[in-house]
Amino acid sequence: MPLPLRTKKKIDDLKIDKSKNNHFVNCLFVNCQLSILIAFMTACQPSEKKESTYYKEPFRPQFHFSPEKNWTNDPNGLVYIDGEYHLFYQYNPYGDQWGHMSWGHTVSEDLLHWKHLPVALEEYTDPSTGDSTMIFSGTVVIDKANTAGFGANSMVAIYTSHVHKDGHAVVQHQSLAYSNDRGRTWKRYDKNPVLDINRKDFRDPKVFWHEPKQKWVMALVVPDLYTVQFYESKNLLNWKLTGEFTGIGDTTRIWECPDLYELKIEGQPSKTKWVLSLSGGHPQGPKFVGMQYFIGDFDGNTFHADSLHYPQYVDYGKDFYAGIVYNNLPDQRTIMIGWLNNWTYGNKLPTFPWRGAMSLPRELSLINTPSGLTLRQQPIVALEKLRTKKIEAIENQELFGSFEFSAELTEETSIEIASDGGDRLVLYYINGNFSIDRTKTLSDFNRDFASIDSVSIPHYPTSISVRVIVDQSVAEIFINNGEQVLTELFFLRGGKVKIKSNGEVKIAEGYEIKDVWRE
Ligand code: FRU
Repeated sequence: MPLPLRTKKKIDDLKIDKSKNNHFVNCLFVNCQLSILIAFMTACQPSEKKESTYYKEPFRPQFHFSPEKNWTNDPNGLVYIDGEYHLFYQYNPYGDQWGHMSWGHTVSEDLLHWKHLPVALEEYTDPSTGDSTMIFSGTVVIDKANTAGFGANSMVAIYTSHVHKDGHAVVQHQSLAYSNDRGRTWKRYDKNPVLDINRKDFRDPKVFWHEPKQKWVMALVVPDLYTVQFYESKNLLNWKLTGEFTGIGDTTRIWECPDLYELKIEGQPSKTKWVLSLSGGHPQGPKFVGMQYFIGDFDGNTFHADSLHYPQYVDYGKDFYAGIVYNNLPDQRTIMIGWLNNWTYGNKLPTFPWRGAMSLPRELSLINTPSGLTLRQQPIVALEKLRTKKIEAIENQELFGSFEFSAELTEETSIEIASDGGDRLVLYYINGNFSIDRTKTLSDFNRDFASIDSVSIPHYPTSISVRVIVDQSVAEIFINNGEQVLTELFFLRGGKVKIKSNGEVKIAEGYEIKDVWRE
């Protein structure tokens, strides 16, 4: 029986469709084969790996913290909690010069690899008065016992609220903000400020829990009076003045960013002393800023300095400022981080799109020396985990620019960290002085940048040991196991870097150091 026409048509259509399908399947098959072939051929070709450009700009430190972009100065609110080291920092979210100060925020599990987090505390405007408040430097504490009423274990930031109007400072007072979600979001306390003495300069509170007297202690400065004031509180909300420290030390520049902590004396496990450190003058005179420290006792109310030869400086280089130590560490260490810069030329550094970075975290202790107790600083031991290749004969090797080495310098010897463009950073030991000379590096962005910084090594030893840690544009130099430290920025033009020495220099060991930045 002939099929009805319509049915036939359907079958023919189907046939066509089928053949279409077959064609499609065929194509798919051929295409697949083709793609496999292409993939195979590509795999066989020498791979052209796309190098990431993240954190690879000229002069960008590879294992020091710097923000992705924009300006930073002081480290703030250093605190450890729940497996995270928090680093807040003075930050301008809108530009690469100082301004709109807010608290940037980053966390790390090892103090070396940092994860960027959103700005924690931002400058704000009061609509009723038109005043703006910048968030200046301060502390974060962990309020374990809920003394302030923001919740047990809340993170409480105590910062200077810098009020300004039409470009002029109005007042500086101390305010609080708190977080109950591991620092991810913050609320300003609604009864701020918590401490106001009606001054334009009154700032940088460092707060810690004083176990013996079961109270909070705050150290902060009246900068233009070269005075550290101490306050006490049971609840972080009401503060009472308990003492003042003033009258000694370097007063060539205003005082800023004080910190107060108890340190062990090496070799005497049961003995401790208190250290008061602060930012202000520099060993090279009033043109620059630096950090000094005092050793003594803290009786819970005020600090009494031992009669040592003051001023004592924390760092003899130009670029270590506003250093403060961590609160609430899970172990016995005292760890300081400082800002790698100097106010004299800070806003002019030739880096883009960021300006400003933090020092390596440094472990602090006290040591007995023939000239009395001295502050010792050493990079945290974990830095060794970032070492990659051991560089056997480090001299004259081409280096990528992030490395460390140790060396023994005898009298009249020098080491150069030199680029193939002819620039060089020179380190030398002559007449009992260790010096670092950056006059032969890029310095035309500011007339005060080119300089030689020195430290006199007590008792004029015949040789000194140096550990030199270099990270592109940062050199941190620890002399005689950290008895003296010099931190210096430098900008070498030209590509490859080599180490060269003259005289009897023994370079013991060198390592390349890994970069820690991943997008
Ligand atoms: C120190 C400092 C602090 C102040 C902050 C402002 O570098 O001047 O005294 O709180 O910077 O950014």
